[in-house]
Amino acid sequence: IATAVLMTLLAYLMGSVSSAVIVCRLFALPDPRQHGSGNPGATNVLRLGGKGAAAMVLVSDVLKGTIPVWTSYFLGIEAIWLGVIAIAACLGHIFPIFFHFRGGKGVATAFGAMLPIGLSLAGLQILTWLLLVILTRLSSLAAILTAGLSPLFTWFIKPAYVIPVAMLSLLIIIRHKDNLRRLWNGTEPKMKFRRSKPQ
Ligand code: G3P
Repeated sequence: IATAVLMTLLAYLMGSVSSAVIVCRLFALPDPRQHGSGNPGATNVLRLGGKGAAAMVLVSDVLKGTIPVWTSYFLGIEAIWLGVIAIAACLGHIFPIFFHFRGGKGVATAFGAMLPIGLSLAGLQILTWLLLVILTRLSSLAAILTAGLSPLFTWFIKPAYVIPVAMLSLLIIIRHKDNLRRLWNGTEPKMKFRRSKPQ
């Protein structure tokens, strides 16, 4: 139990490292908390700084979920605690102790935390998200619907993890309340996919 509690704390602290803020500072990009949607996440960094910076944020935010959960799994920590550790990592990202408790929406970190459940779940989530982004060009809507479907996917793949997955999904959906309002009003900005320049 002591190891599990320690890993929960470590997961929260790792989650609290706001990759979006750090990457934007490193590359002298606008602060994602003050510009664009105001959200320190990969989608907003894509708006402000382009694909390279957004990819760095995405990978770091995913790892903040995967590393503590996977490490805990290999330490032999029991399943119920793995769920707690996954939620702690996301709570760190959403309410970061190092950044005045003002963090992101937890999409990438939750995805990373669920990754150890298996590649079939991750594959279904990526496919769903990508399909929805291609169809709607709305990153937030894609995240909300993918989060909503994830407990169902988990039910078929690894039913033992339905409850922690459902809790992560709920957390993500609640964090998107401003996006939900903008989606409802039709004011949510669409993602722009710039074509590469002709040679
Ligand atoms: O991952 C967050 C995304 O779903 C929405 O981000 O910046 O459009 O509020 P944003």
